[in-house]
Amino acid sequence: MHILLVASAFNSLTQRVLAELQDRGHTVGVALALGNDDALREAVRDHSPQLIVAPMLTTAIPEDVWTGHTCLIVHPGPPGDRGPSSLDWTLQDGAQSWGVTVLEAVAEMDAGDVWAWSPLKVPPLAGKSDFYRGEVADAALDAVLLAVERFASGKYKPRKQKAAALSAGWRPFMKQAQRRIDWAADPTEVVLRQLRAADSQPGVLDELLGVQWYLHGGHPEGELRGRPGELVATRAGAICRATVDGAVWIAQLRPWREPGSRLPSFKLPAVQALGDLLPAEVPEVPAPLQLQLPAARRTWSDIRYSEHGTVGMLNFSFAGGAMSTVHCRRLLEAYRFAQTRPTSVLVLGGLRDFFSNGIHLNVIEAADDPAEESWANIHAMNDLVEAVLTTTDRLTVSALGGNAAAGGVMLALAADEVWCRDGAVLNPHYKLMGLHGSEYWTYILPRRVGESEAQRLTQSALPVSAKRAVELGMAQRVLQAAPEELGDEVVRMAAQLAASPVLVERIAQKKAVRAQDESVKPLQKYRDEELTHMRRNFFDAREPHAGLRSAFVRKEKAPRTPPHLARLGLTD
Ligand code: COA
Repeated sequence: MHILLVASAFNSLTQRVLAELQDRGHTVGVALALGNDDALREAVRDHSPQLIVAPMLTTAIPEDVWTGHTCLIVHPGPPGDRGPSSLDWTLQDGAQSWGVTVLEAVAEMDAGDVWAWSPLKVPPLAGKSDFYRGEVADAALDAVLLAVERFASGKYKPRKQKAAALSAGWRPFMKQAQRRIDWAADPTEVVLRQLRAADSQPGVLDELLGVQWYLHGGHPEGELRGRPGELVATRAGAICRATVDGAVWIAQLRPWREPGSRLPSFKLPAVQALGDLLPAEVPEVPAPLQLQLPAARRTWSDIRYSEHGTVGMLNFSFAGGAMSTVHCRRLLEAYRFAQTRPTSVLVLGGLRDFFSNGIHLNVIEAADDPAEESWANIHAMNDLVEAVLTTTDRLTVSALGGNAAAGGVMLALAADEVWCRDGAVLNPHYKLMGLHGSEYWTYILPRRVGESEAQRLTQSALPVSAKRAVELGMAQRVLQAAPEELGDEVVRMAAQLAASPVLVERIAQKKAVRAQDESVKPLQKYRDEELTHMRRNFFDAREPHAGLRSAFVRKEKAPRTPPHLARLGLTD
């Protein structure tokens, strides 16, 4: 079938729907709905699709489009739920189960006939965007694929929604007033719900040290205490604030700006955002790398190491998958520690949500000298990738609970095996950020997929599903696990690998291959060649990268569907 995806942004869910519909043999086009109805009409005319699917839409589809074509809208709520802030209300209410519905576009929002829906369990600790990319995306894909199948059958009659249920199900846009935290009264669980419901966008507007900020990210802290609202500690760039009955970790802050201000603000690691405002007496309280987290000990740490027999697990999770110079150096230090341990399989990642999206564009944008910071960041990332590539005394595995992009994909592919959770989406390219790319990609990618496929992947700049990644040779396994079950599944599979009778042979073989590859072309040469391009990308004022980076961190909307997407699914 020829399907046109209409979306407000080419976001994670839209990418996943595209990749998974393509995997099932459909031809798929993409048109971004950016407020220009005529441009959308033109795309619909060009594609003449059999079906329109809208995975993520914040504006209405013009009436002549939905009357002329069946348009299926993905709504992140069960049948009957309506409105633009569904996930926010759900998380704020502390609901335990939820759903995603695929319904037909009609004049009234979320009021059309139901083509399919899929239930889901709300994870106890994840923030909104992690939930969206995990359980919500899984349920959305189930419902979209079922709806597409039903539509293709030509026989299915979608189910009408009852008028009474529709008026009862409407919930309005959630305003900042409804997100407010009352530090003097709200217990930790309420504070966390507010933070989770606002995660990623828009954050919770609050005052801290006399300044208005949006707070982003929230994790419980079980031991540290202080006066409610007070800053009691910092850890790895995050801040810890006391509540009436405990404390919470907040990873990122975004300064409030007057509406319409010329340059919108963007998120930064909280300690960096506070800068000189941070009182000197607030202590840095690091978490031990081998942090054991029994149910009773609640705290937060972005890097953790644990052992399960002869399997070492190096878990890491950085907000937005972005890895600053400091993140890369800390992770490398942890990796070096893991290398000293008596294990035969070392797993990287293994947590839900993003694996890595490469260098930290926000931290770079905020730096006094962004080009120098980019340079430091790419070197730190390369050092980490090199450490993985040159590990020859044990097998390494990258376990991707969620998506990876750009240098984050290359970090994953530096390991001997790549395991992706079903539903993970890889973006193995740098082009959209105006970068040649580094992280030894010119070595890593061709050795897995061949020279011409490496060129195609990096130049087409399109997402790749987990299944397709395995077909291409980028990954070795698709893990069928819910986001919350991924960690246990990875440990189980890694233990099997560690017990494999051919393990010793495989380690010897990889060592020989690395030595052979090094003799043909040293890793340093790949790095030097890539960095020659990257130096120009970062430091030459005529290069597009700085402008693209600024637009990305400030979330500027593209004026039209980017050409590499607009061409998709059209025959020349
Ligand atoms: N640096 C800083 N922040 C990043 C980031 C990066 N490299 N990659 C992603 N993020 C942030 C996004 O700004 C977004 O922040 P938000 O929570 O404030 O909205 C969040 O992570 C999630 O990313 P988003 O773009 O909404 O997710 P997506 O799944 O729709 O798209 C990508 C994923 C990876 C395709 C897209 O984020 C991207 O292109 N990232 C840049 C990749 C890159 O070029 N890296 C540098 C070269 S190594």
